[in-house]
Amino acid sequence: MNQINVRLQTTESKHYKILIGYNILETIAKNIRDAQIAGHYIIIADDCVARLYGSKLTRALCDLDLNAHLIDFPAGEKSKSFESVVRLSKMLIELGADRKSALIALGGGVTGDLAGFLASIYMRGIPVFQVPTTLMAQVDSSIGGKTGINLPGGKNLLGTFHQPEMVLTDIKFLETLPDNEYRNGLAEVVKYGVIRGEPLFGKLEKGVGLIQDRNSSFLDEIITASCRIKADIVSQDDREKDLRRILNFGHTIGHALEAISGYTISHGACVSLGMIGAARLSERLYGMDPEEGNRIEELLNVLGLKNRIASEVSTNDILSALRRDKKKEGDNINFVMLRKIGQPFVVGGLDDQVIRETIDDLRG
Ligand code: NAD
Ligand code: GLY
Repeated sequence: MNQINVRLQTTESKHYKILIGYNILETIAKNIRDAQIAGHYIIIADDCVARLYGSKLTRALCDLDLNAHLIDFPAGEKSKSFESVVRLSKMLIELGADRKSALIALGGGVTGDLAGFLASIYMRGIPVFQVPTTLMAQVDSSIGGKTGINLPGGKNLLGTFHQPEMVLTDIKFLETLPDNEYRNGLAEVVKYGVIRGEPLFGKLEKGVGLIQDRNSSFLDEIITASCRIKADIVSQDDREKDLRRILNFGHTIGHALEAISGYTISHGACVSLGMIGAARLSERLYGMDPEEGNRIEELLNVLGLKNRIASEVSTNDILSALRRDKKKEGDNINFVMLRKIGQPFVVGGLDDQVIRETIDDLRG
């Protein structure tokens, strides 16, 4: 089992651990018990994860004489809504949840964001444990305290920072994860490899077969490496004032593509295209060696991630969506660029024409 300590050093001084292991459901329950921070635990899961793992975790907690209940909501991004928050809040009240209760977010990023948001506002804030079950959640959304729900105008427009008490990751959960969801998480793992460089990037290049086989000890290594990178970045900049922005590598063009597809193209595919776009922009504008971009594109390609933008997606639409980016500052759209793999930096004010040409080069 691996342990990573997140030691926030900026706006908050909170410390928490990320535990990573294989087949550790009982250890997860024991860690929750040993934290001794609540008298009542409510597990929140979407209906798919509730069916697969909800009663197993509830039983593991009850076997330790903890007072635990499970509540669920319909799986999918649509549930990251104000209506879900109200509905789940009512269920918490019916269960008698009070300020001495804690939530356990058991699931992917949707559950983590929704339960994290609810925990941050229920009775002015109660603790939340993150128990991530998708690769995306295990390497990204469970760490760092971002919570949120969507509004009709866009994703994650209502949200808070609410750091978890602990992140408890069982790699065995990934055995039931559908392939497309697995690939979404792989895009984020590649992102860490690109922004931090070696040894992770080379390990991914050499380990493609093991990744495709979902080899649990290799997954343990790359998930742990990814979590270490995220923990290190978040520890230095929990509110995304500066360093944390590099975690958006590939996400600027990626989010634009997701939005204009009406979220019909997967997040992993969009981020993959966004990372290739950012690498090619780095070559055009900052002289990065094209061999670096080729390595990134090749790795994404062999992992089954998208590397070509479909012809029906117009460049003008992508540019308009970029201008609506939630993370833009005034008229300035920030991009994460590379000097080389492992050396990212943030810039704003890129010329539209260069973005246009780069997007056009990404067509099949
Ligand atoms: P998700 O939570 O919707 O999970 C994807 C699907 O997989 C769901 O249908 C779920 O029921 C199913 N599933 C989950 N675990 C499973 C398992 N072990 N076996 C079988 N099926 C399983 O999607 P996601 O990709 O995990 O998360 C996406 C969300 O994360 C988005 O809303 C995004 O905004 C958010 N996010 C947040 C952060 C953050 O820092 N807070 C970072 C990245 C993404
Ligand atoms: N997923 C990006 C971040 O947590 O900052």
